[in-house]
Amino acid sequence: MTPHKLLLLPGDGIGPEVMAEVKRLIGWLDAEGILRFEIEEGLVGGSSYDADKVSITDATMAKALAADAVLFGAVGGPKWDPVPYDVRPEAGLLRLRKELQLFANLRPAICYPALAEASSLKPDVVEGLDIMIVRELTGGVYFGEPKTITDLGNGQKRAIDTQVYDTYEIERIARVAFELARKRRNKVTSMEKNNVMKSGVLWKEVVGAVHKREYPDVTLEHQLADSGGMQLVRWPKQFDVIVTDNLFGDMLSDIAAMLTGSLGMLPSASLGETDARTGTRKALYEPVHGSAPDIAGQGKANPIAMLASFGMALRYSFDRGDLADRLDQAIAGALAKGLRTADLAAAGATVVSTAEMGEAILKEMQALTA
Ligand code: IPM
Ligand code: MN
Repeated sequence: MTPHKLLLLPGDGIGPEVMAEVKRLIGWLDAEGILRFEIEEGLVGGSSYDADKVSITDATMAKALAADAVLFGAVGGPKWDPVPYDVRPEAGLLRLRKELQLFANLRPAICYPALAEASSLKPDVVEGLDIMIVRELTGGVYFGEPKTITDLGNGQKRAIDTQVYDTYEIERIARVAFELARKRRNKVTSMEKNNVMKSGVLWKEVVGAVHKREYPDVTLEHQLADSGGMQLVRWPKQFDVIVTDNLFGDMLSDIAAMLTGSLGMLPSASLGETDARTGTRKALYEPVHGSAPDIAGQGKANPIAMLASFGMALRYSFDRGDLADRLDQAIAGALAKGLRTADLAAAGATVVSTAEMGEAILKEMQALTA
């Protein structure tokens, strides 16, 4: 069995704690001979800045480019608020996304049965929820130029961010959404603001054209992104796959996270184009939650989003959908037994630590494998 080359970038805050639970699982898979891994680890974000004065070094970038998959924890924290903009912690993540050309960000929001009560929404609104947000990740206002703050010299400054999309960028993300929908409930909802933004006009036009030309069998709906956000909290089960741009996707996926009980539940996969020759694609897997500096180092973090992100690596990079399904079942099993990290616990419930949750999920995994 050729080992899978994994680069682990735990990052800052709770990143290392939740990554430790993935290492526990990987160690077991490897020891059992279920999967073999060749593992490297590197610094990213504030921890990289502290060591090397950059948010990611060229050497670590090279390792990321050579890896079969990158597992990413989280970056950022108030400690690095004063550092120059170009080397702020988030810049490391954005460089990884851009240089690995990870244009497709998959953010599944699944409400495990045991957690319907943990959501801030009514249980019947979220029970059984299973939606997929497909966020464009290498374009739009995150990367558009010009991106500047200019001193106008009259006591005023002007800040500019540029929202820009070319046809090919919209086409390829639309295809990812339609392909996923075909394996799910066959419906795509595209969200933009064509009533205000030219990029929204082009987005709607191109998604519509790809649909008509290549995926007429899939149901396509268009929604304005603001009303889409409202619909997400009103009746989220109307959605199957949502496709949207980089900035709207950032916001809508945080909203979707709360439907699942906690931001600590949402995994993500960032994927590049499949290489026609090798059939492989660059990929980075990360939880949607951030570095949560307020609880870092206390064993309070929920490791499920990080573990489920590894599950997405099993599915999308290592072609082991069977193991990914088993891991999902193991997570559901630990939750069904009543285990809750602090973010999920109702008042009065017993709260387990990051490591206790990780151990319990591994135990479930072992029982499902025996
Ligand atoms: C996310 C995060 C990032 C983003 C930050 C950390 C740059 O919020 O992955 O959703 O805005 O994309
Ligand atoms: Mn975000």
